[in-house]
Amino acid sequence: MAATNDNGGDPQPIGVFDSGIGGLTVVRAIRTLLPNESIFYIGDTARVPYGSKSPATVERYSLEIAAMLEAEPCKAIVVACNTASSVALDVLRNTTSLPVVGVINPGARAATAATRNGHIGVIGTRATIKSGAYERAIRALRPHVQVTSRACPLLVPLIEEGWLESGVTDRVISEYVRPLLDANADTLVLGCTHYPLLRPAIQRVVGDSVTLVDSAENCALAVRYLLQAKRLEAPPDSKHELRVALTDLPDQFLRVAEHALQLDVGNPAICEIPHAPVAHA
Ligand code: DGL
Repeated sequence: MAATNDNGGDPQPIGVFDSGIGGLTVVRAIRTLLPNESIFYIGDTARVPYGSKSPATVERYSLEIAAMLEAEPCKAIVVACNTASSVALDVLRNTTSLPVVGVINPGARAATAATRNGHIGVIGTRATIKSGAYERAIRALRPHVQVTSRACPLLVPLIEEGWLESGVTDRVISEYVRPLLDANADTLVLGCTHYPLLRPAIQRVVGDSVTLVDSAENCALAVRYLLQAKRLEAPPDSKHELRVALTDLPDQFLRVAEHALQLDVGNPAICEIPHAPVAHA
């Protein structure tokens, strides 16, 4: 429930979640755009990756994490995960009383604005690509745009391991994006919030003529719009902070957050996931 104070606005944190490190690219973008806002981040490190799981499992995980953010309490939920956004956004919106922002529509809007030749490539996890969520969102905005998609299941493990500048990673990227380049895509959606961590490597492989669309930056713009529209912005005098909680060990998470993202995430709390009750028919 929103806690509007006397100055107007809401000092409660924005709740952000992802399966692991990837959502921190969204946290970084929100902090740059909205430096006054506090953020409470949950990385579901016990169950990463989400991208190889079934839609029903990702939906259940997303509902469990959203319930934790709601209990915090947070004033809004940012699904900083393309996989969860592509399969669980509607159920989240129907279940929580908080406003929910995902990453698919902001990325689709930016991609349709960026393409010059009307051909967009999308890379993401298996679950995101299989859902067809980007194709639907892009075609709803520009019906005649051609979309070529490719699942890249090896990229999330490489990123979680911190292999951001490595010949092996460059070769994997190259294998994955070749069909998109052959199809003449001039714009490539990084349809997984982990992928901005590989932005220099991906740009190097695809060349400067391809525009990369970062779902993290575009999601931050959507968060600003939502907070303004709902009058939930933090009061100007509020003390902003970033708190991070993980569902399992923080070692690799901390290393990548600090080195690659230059984010001080403090000492993440390790939290228990309160399992949703099983529905009996
Ligand atoms: N970062 C997430 C996404 O945007 C999830 C990656 C994963 O856990 O597979 O899809």
